Amino acid sequence: MKGVHFPVTAAALSVLAFTTLLASASDPDPLQDFCVAINNTDFAVFVNGKFCKDPNLASANDFFSDKLRYSGNTSNPVGSIVTAANVDVIPGLNTLGISFARVDFAPNGLNPPHTHPRATEIFIVLEGSLYVGFVTSNINGDGNRLFTKVLNKGDVFVFPIGLIHFQLNVGKTNALALAAFGSQNPGVITIANAVFGSKPPINPDVLTKAFQLDNNVVDYLQKQFWYNNS
Ligand SMILES: *[C@@H]1O[C@H](CO)[C@@H](O)[C@H](O)[C@H]1NC(C)=O
Ligand SMILES: *[C@@H]1O[C@H](CO)[C@@H](O)[C@H](O)[C@H]1NC(C)=O
Repeated sequence: MKGVHFPVTAAALSVLAFTTLLASASDPDPLQDFCVAINNTDFAVFVNGKFCKDPNLASANDFFSDKLRYSGNTSNPVGSIVTAANVDVIPGLNTLGISFARVDFAPNGLNPPHTHPRATEIFIVLEGSLYVGFVTSNINGDGNRLFTKVLNKGDVFVFPIGLIHFQLNVGKTNALALAAFGSQNPGVITIANAVFGSKPPINPDVLTKAFQLDNNVVDYLQKQFWYNNS
């Protein structure tokens, strides 16, 4: 039996090794929205990260930010503000695949429905109470499921990569949360801003049909100022 068993195991191992090779041969995930190829480097920017400083010239400040000490100004139409500590703020995060943001909420403040195209988010409430949720992708039958929770101080919630999510302050006081991301540059797409506030505007016929709305309503929505809280 052993004589038969061994070659089977060896075959299984080589399949595994082959699969691993295939997986590691794929292109790396993008770290920005897009990267249009050019041949002339005069107008090129470095992507999928940034250029790296000579390590001998690096200092503690490259790995430091005091930006999240300060509460953001929530006097805006949505009553919330996101302060990011991503690779643009902490250059030492380059290639490390993580970053932070603090989110301040006024009473009734909302971090409107948005997605992070490049990161899962893990979120902890430091002050106040938030109603949070995300919606799953379209799947026949059981798609677009809503997962929600009311979070209190110390509670943690996860927003899986790419899914639309939101946070609403349901307490009577200001609220504060800290979000950690699995990307040095998670990106953010605020749904209303992207759909109704694009520059130039999307052809209203697209939005009228997509959202099953009257022309006037689409016209009204496209004329609104869509505040960007991040
Ligand atoms: C870059 O150079 C290649 C080879 O000369 C050419 O085929 C291609 O069209 C060029 N691409 C761009 C974006 O200019
Ligand atoms: C907060 O923002 C509002 C609106 O832009 C502004 O009027 C106000 O002065 C700001 N407050 C602080 C403390 O910066």
